[in-house]
Amino acid sequence: ALPQQVRLVEVGPRDGLQNESGPVIATAIKVELIERLAEAGLCHIESASFVSPKWVPQMGDGAEVMAGIRRKPGVIYSALAPNLKGLEAALAADVSEVAVFTAASEAFTQKNINCSVAESLERFAPLIERARAEGLRVRGYVSTTLGCPYAGEIAPSEVAAVSRDLYQLGCYEISLGDTIGVGTPLKAKRMLEAVSREIPMEHLAAHFHDTYGQALANLYAVLEEGIAVIDSSVSGLGGCPYARGASGNVATEDVLYMLNGLGIETGVNLDKLVATSCWISEQLNRPLTARVAQAIGCT
Ligand code: HMG
Ligand code: MG
Repeated sequence: ALPQQVRLVEVGPRDGLQNESGPVIATAIKVELIERLAEAGLCHIESASFVSPKWVPQMGDGAEVMAGIRRKPGVIYSALAPNLKGLEAALAADVSEVAVFTAASEAFTQKNINCSVAESLERFAPLIERARAEGLRVRGYVSTTLGCPYAGEIAPSEVAAVSRDLYQLGCYEISLGDTIGVGTPLKAKRMLEAVSREIPMEHLAAHFHDTYGQALANLYAVLEEGIAVIDSSVSGLGGCPYARGASGNVATEDVLYMLNGLGIETGVNLDKLVATSCWISEQLNRPLTARVAQAIGCT
């Protein structure tokens, strides 16, 4: 059975913008994007990333972004933190929540965070403890759950193992990333079946990229299995700098249109969302890529 409600986690300002090539996007544009997304009804917005600015230059102004946002009550403004240094910066910036990230693939983890999967978990243990002591919830990402750009096929059991470890360390939710968008619906279902044997479904989220055009089909497949939290990116912004060929996340407006059609509630206003998609595409001088934004059009 499909869920009655879905919580959308908007990752465009982070997963989207982190991958923009060219000059660093002005802080004011990032801030306005986040405010427009909140205005459209999104209540969880991944807004910044406290990683090394040498690794991801686009995210170097996280503190300024967080300081610039007019906070809307009830909205979660979260940020990535790869280590304790990142957590301290996130705490100083008064984020509402943090997220740690590792992968089901050793090769990907090395390229992305310069350590092994086991080392990443060792790094996260004190981070999660400290965040929770400060009253912050911690979300956990697992990348390459449906395939890796370096290692190829990933066994569902590998995804289940690292997800369980993150959950046991204290992450309240595990977001399952199809980092390079290679998954197909049956594969997505099988991966989720393996993970949900270790972690209750209500603590899992789907984070699918649309590289091969499969993201909506994959999302429908996991919705049928009981997933009720979906990560998406306005306008389909983004990719991953350490995953060659990763195009954007599934577009929030495409997901919302599908959920609306299924009668699933999200609290998000499609017209305001599409207007935001039009606005950010213009700011970034990017063609409008999301299908629903193209169909509805910009005024
Ligand atoms: P490292 O080089 O191994 O770390 O990088 P280090 O501890 O040796 O530090 C090296 C330098 O970085 C030092 O500076 C540190 O101070 C600095 P130096 O002495 O050379 O001047 N540093 C930091 N600076 C700012 N903030 C920090 C920080 N930590 C160290 N937090 C590290 C390890 C993890 C830091 C690095 O590899 C990194 O930042 N990686 C970021 C990777 C990233 O952001 N990837 C994209 C996000 S993941 C993603 O998109 C996938 C997801 O969407 C899900 C999916 O789709 O699958 C989540
Ligand atoms: Mg991603």
